[in-house]
Amino acid sequence: MKLKELESYQDYYDAQNGRSGMKASQINLELIMNIFNLESEDKGINILDIGCRDATAVHFLHNKGFKNTYGFDIGERARETWYSIYDKAFVDSYLTVSDVHEGIPYDKEFQLILSSHVIEHLFDAPKAIEHMYTHLASGGFLFTQVPIQPEERFLNAKPHYYMFDSMDDYISLFDNTKFKVVHQEEGFKAANPEATLILQKL
Ligand SMILES: C[S@@+](CC[C@H](N)C(=O)[O-])C[C@H]1O[C@@H](n2cnc3c(N)ncnc32)[C@H](O)[C@@H]1O
Repeated sequence: MKLKELESYQDYYDAQNGRSGMKASQINLELIMNIFNLESEDKGINILDIGCRDATAVHFLHNKGFKNTYGFDIGERARETWYSIYDKAFVDSYLTVSDVHEGIPYDKEFQLILSSHVIEHLFDAPKAIEHMYTHLASGGFLFTQVPIQPEERFLNAKPHYYMFDSMDDYISLFDNTKFKVVHQEEGFKAANPEATLILQKL
């Protein structure tokens, strides 16, 4: 694992906030539906999408019947986008602006936490992962996707802070006394190798 030389937190925040309002989604909902067998899952489970950007996944899961699905993103720009797409009541009830480094902004435990293309952007990934662990229900799952991109040019491109050389390198970020790897898969997103890693809270 290589870490970009960290600049100030303000630089980090500005880089994230600038992109948080994008109407763009990379999350692989078909994979999530299949892998967790969500069509036949209890619709009352709590689900959280961290770094949800335009809230595509939160809205999709609500439409699938998962009414306890929540999301948050670091940037105020994300909130502006949510209000331009969804009902005010939906935004106010299920979406909020918050920084995962500060903790999870919902006083709940989640059976499933989603973090799609977020961890590589963080300022302090171990701290954020600790908060994810705390808010996972016992036996709950953390679904993550990150690029595995050994090209140096990505490390020096804001706003990526972490660059993982391989799946094992990425797995080493997680404390194996707290998480068990239950699924790992490598694929390609456009031209870039991508890791899908699912962990279960021990
Ligand atoms: C590449 S986008 C991925 C968005 C979405 N998860 C997807 O898969 O399409 C990364 C998102 O993480 C958000 N993010 C970055 N740092 C964050 C933090 N500390 N807390 C919450 N969200 C954060 C960014 O604002 C951005 O919306």
